Amino acid sequence: MGKQTIGLEQNLYDYLLSVSLREPEILTQLRQETAQHPSGRMQISPEQGQFMALLVQLLGAKKTLEVGVFTGYSSLVVALALPPEGKIVACDISEEFTAIARRYWQQAGVTDKIDLHIAPAIETLDQLLAAGEAETFDFAFIDADKSGYDNYYERSLKLVRPGGLIAIDNVLWSGRVADPEDQNSQTKKIRAFNQKLHQDQRISLSLVPIADGLTLAWKRPQSAG
Ligand SMILES: C[S@@+](CC[C@H](N)C(=O)[O-])C[C@H]1O[C@@H](n2cnc3c(N)ncnc32)[C@H](O)[C@@H]1O
Repeated sequence: MGKQTIGLEQNLYDYLLSVSLREPEILTQLRQETAQHPSGRMQISPEQGQFMALLVQLLGAKKTLEVGVFTGYSSLVVALALPPEGKIVACDISEEFTAIARRYWQQAGVTDKIDLHIAPAIETLDQLLAAGEAETFDFAFIDADKSGYDNYYERSLKLVRPGGLIAIDNVLWSGRVADPEDQNSQTKKIRAFNQKLHQDQRISLSLVPIADGLTLAWKRPQSAG
């Protein structure tokens, strides 16, 4: 979620984009269309998308998971970074939002890479585990309802292979996590989630201050998951 990296002045943000962003035209078009959508702020920022594409390439990922598709920017940026045989299992509850995503996946020629499940993500993740797909994913991106984060994280930690990576979005929550006055239930959940990951010895982690905050959780090889 979020249009740009928080804490950066506009001129510095514009400079960052001008010297680093290599956004394919299809992603620019999707970003422009989503900007007109009433919930357009839910889309990840382009520099975050490019960062995630780089992570996918660094991991040599072939099989990835996405929790929270919306109009499809993050899934498309990952699909474009995957090799031809690469696959994404994508979870969302909205036919309406993902109809836009499907249109762009089609235009970009990546439809065959993406297996979209329209259902509460927890059901899809449990089905994957029941189907014996634990430790078969290289990368997971969590960007759906914040109340589900802990469950999505625990399932994803089982589904990614040792040495696989989970990226969790919005962990800085527009800065509200650091405001002691903010006792909103969503803010409190994200704070508790961040504290849990800080203590979690199953992973190595970094909270990257890109966009609205992206925690990278690398599943340690010795972890039983
Ligand atoms: C922040 S948006 C995702 C943004 C997307 N990653 C992007 O790059 O544009 C969150 C999405 O999570 C979906 N969502 C909300 N609750 C969900 C649930 N229980 N299971 C699956 N998806 C859910 C919403 O429909 C919405 O599309």
